[in-house]
Amino acid sequence: MINFNLSEEQLLIKKTAKEFAKNELLSGAIERDDKKIWPEAQIKKMGDLGFMGMMASSKYNGGGMDTISYAIAMEEISAVDASAAVIMSVNNSLVCYLIEHFGDDFQKEKYLAKLTTGQKLGAFSLSEPQSGSDASNMNTTAIKSDDCYILNGTKNWVTNGIHSDIVLVFAMTEKGIGHKGISCFIVEKEFEGFECGKPEEKLGIRSSDTCELYFDNVKVPKENMIGKEGEGFKIALATLDGGRIGIAAQAIGIAVSSLNNSISYSKDRHQFGKPISSNQGIQFKLADMAMEIEAARLLIWKAAWAKDNHHNFGVLASMAKVYASEVAMRASTQCVQIHGGYGYIKETGVERLMRDAKITQIYEGTSEIQRVVIARSLL
Ligand code: CAA
Repeated sequence: MINFNLSEEQLLIKKTAKEFAKNELLSGAIERDDKKIWPEAQIKKMGDLGFMGMMASSKYNGGGMDTISYAIAMEEISAVDASAAVIMSVNNSLVCYLIEHFGDDFQKEKYLAKLTTGQKLGAFSLSEPQSGSDASNMNTTAIKSDDCYILNGTKNWVTNGIHSDIVLVFAMTEKGIGHKGISCFIVEKEFEGFECGKPEEKLGIRSSDTCELYFDNVKVPKENMIGKEGEGFKIALATLDGGRIGIAAQAIGIAVSSLNNSISYSKDRHQFGKPISSNQGIQFKLADMAMEIEAARLLIWKAAWAKDNHHNFGVLASMAKVYASEVAMRASTQCVQIHGGYGYIKETGVERLMRDAKITQIYEGTSEIQRVVIARSLL
């Protein structure tokens, strides 16, 4: 049986996220983006409203919600502020998910219960300067020494790196055996020898922070290892499968905003004595945006449904991410085109959509890597 109706609860989440985005995120979004201002007050409110740990169990103060609810909230928040959305996404689908599904009781009580409420913020740190798509090719090491591991190395492209309280770090506990030598650790910001680099100067999602992390003989207690030695890479990839649903939802939020802005502007803007929306050239652009958004959302919800129903969902998540991010890029580019010169200046805010859309084709696995995952499942 297929049912496309949202439940009462999902409709309420949609309404709450939409109102929150309109009332708390809209004002100042352009300025925060321009000046790279981290949305501190807004993230705190998102924690109070339960948006920072939506899918985590209520035992650890989470919302116990399904992945479709999470995708709906991500879409609504991203439609207004994709920077706030990625902060939320990393905390929910990478950090909370990973600790809840692979961590032990001690780790869940000590860390998860505070991450779900927004009291603490998390980051996920896999990539290194030389290893992005080829994620297992890492140099960061974690060498066992009595009751701890000694962490050394550099990580990069870490969303929430600066503002987070804890970081999930992947490091080699044994070299020379490829991904089987990678393990996962919870690293607190206060641990000695742990430093953050400067915030990166980014094209988009500028009010979220992204930075390098440096580990210089950082002592990580052995109880902070998640899972067993050598399980880290599979934990990372399994977690990213779910993260990709969140990024796909972020992309579709950007696409929806592009469509809505395009509709209202094209109805208001008159050229040659009539609104530009009366031209088929504009109408076809709007029709394509609407059609592609619907298709992308269905892919996202199918991947979310598969995840919630314990089916294999990794390939569906990759399909959702690659398609939704390409839809977001096309829709936001057309939105700028429809706005003409007004689309090219910061004031109208639509160029921000185009800049924000781009990262959805890159982080949590590039479009090329998503296609690798999809193609491998076919062959
Ligand atoms: N879940 C669990 N295990 C998985 C898996 C998955 N989705 N996919 C593969 N594995 C397992 C395999 O079964 C294999 O195990 P065995 O050796 O025991 O058989 C092991 O993991 C290695 O698999 P592969 O040989 O397929 O690995 P690979 O090196 O060829 O890489 C890849 C596969 C798909 C290219 C992967 O490296 C990948 O997804 N790369 C992209 C990384 C990425 O998304 N980075 C984003 C970083 S996070 C971020 O963006 C920052 C942020 O803050 C937002």
